[in-house]
Amino acid sequence: MDLPFEPYRIKVVERIRRVSRPERARLLETAGYNVFKIPSASIYIDLLTDSGTSAMSDLQWAALMRGDEAYAQSRSFAEFEGVVKEIFGYRHVIPTHQGRAAEGLLFATRVKAGDVVPSNIHFDTTRANVEHLGAIALDCVADAGLDPHLEAPFKGDMSLDKLRDAFTKYGRERIPVVMLTITNNSGGGQPVSMANIREVSAFCREMDVPLIFDACRFAENAWFIQQREEGWSGRGIEDICREMFSCADGCTMSAKKDALVNIGGFVCLNDDEWARDLTNLLILREGFPTYGGLAGRDLAAMAQGLREVMDPDYLAYRIGQVARLGRRLDELEVPYLRPAGGHAIYVDALAALPHLPREQFPAQVFTAALYLEGGVRAVEIGSLMFDHKDPDTGQMVHPAMELVRLAVPRRVYTHTQLDYVAEVCAAVMRKGRNWRGLEITWQPSALRHFTASLRPVGGGTFEAGDQG
Ligand code: F0G
Repeated sequence: MDLPFEPYRIKVVERIRRVSRPERARLLETAGYNVFKIPSASIYIDLLTDSGTSAMSDLQWAALMRGDEAYAQSRSFAEFEGVVKEIFGYRHVIPTHQGRAAEGLLFATRVKAGDVVPSNIHFDTTRANVEHLGAIALDCVADAGLDPHLEAPFKGDMSLDKLRDAFTKYGRERIPVVMLTITNNSGGGQPVSMANIREVSAFCREMDVPLIFDACRFAENAWFIQQREEGWSGRGIEDICREMFSCADGCTMSAKKDALVNIGGFVCLNDDEWARDLTNLLILREGFPTYGGLAGRDLAAMAQGLREVMDPDYLAYRIGQVARLGRRLDELEVPYLRPAGGHAIYVDALAALPHLPREQFPAQVFTAALYLEGGVRAVEIGSLMFDHKDPDTGQMVHPAMELVRLAVPRRVYTHTQLDYVAEVCAAVMRKGRNWRGLEITWQPSALRHFTASLRPVGGGTFEAGDQG
């Protein structure tokens, strides 16, 4: 049987519904073909993100009730800090309201205009936080990670050559920190191997530059190391995490992923001075250091979630469910970035809709079509999200890949519902050339994919021959 077994049973359910196709067409047009602007009540299966969308356990809900709301030194903070220290092993644990707040504080205290921050691939919020300071966010993922067709176990690995070249080109003094995203979300939810983590770590130590993990999906990364990397199959997830984190000097974390909560984040650091500077800024922007923009109950739920996410039965089910969606798509011949990621499948829009040029946002077209066809919401990770000006030439460059991410919330959807998603993907593919390209009618100056409005190129219907 290829079923990943759920290590839970369902105690509470939430009503969802499929609105009619004409209604979906109307909503899509009103939203400017941007699914971020469609009301969630009109979405059947929501795979926009795995962030903050997890189902919490009975123990997490119980922890909420037990949250200590003291302004300073709450019991919930002590519990949260204890669990984080046990898993991550860093000296300072600083809560924030979510991941990007952690990144903002981390960079604001170390990065200045003209600096360069290498990563395997920056997620959009880390990129935006770096660029907001006038610095350059540099992607150094190994070439294997840029080839959507290649089956390889650790396509999140960073290229040591590219990292070394960055130091040669920009100079050590312009690189205040190196980041490593585990797993590499923008590169397809692909894991980073322990061997690569160790290599990058050794290089950073040689250069005397701190290495910081963007650790949102650390447990999923640890699971892949256990399953795929030689020498790690007999080791527990706790052990693997301890080894991973010992290679870095700290991390930023969006608890909305691998802490199985709906809101929360934190920064960990070993460096006392850096932690002090960051904490001072935290008080200004987020709150007192023992709550950092969260309620005490949020800290309590995070502590419990961090314990649960390390459970091997949970991880086998979690990664297995995403892999199973991949197998359904294989059967239906829907092309996606290989292999399946830890938290998501990334449909390869250039292969799925080859008639569309990059300028017409093929991944955004596929995303809008998924909603129109089946009420499924995914997210574009392509030119709408990542087109940018080359810092050296000033020319507009497209990202290497044009992807549609089907991010699977944790413990939320059944296998049947994901089978349905695979069918909707296949239905979009079957209509192929009928889908018309999109053009932007309005966009903000940064992070445009969240709020931009689009329309079918030149106006008219989105699906050729559709009477609306
Ligand atoms: N880093 C990575 C790798 C992420 O995937 C995210 C969020 C963040 C940082 C920022 O965390 O949302 O708590 O501020 N990713 C979500 C996603 C939004 O859909 O992938 P946040």
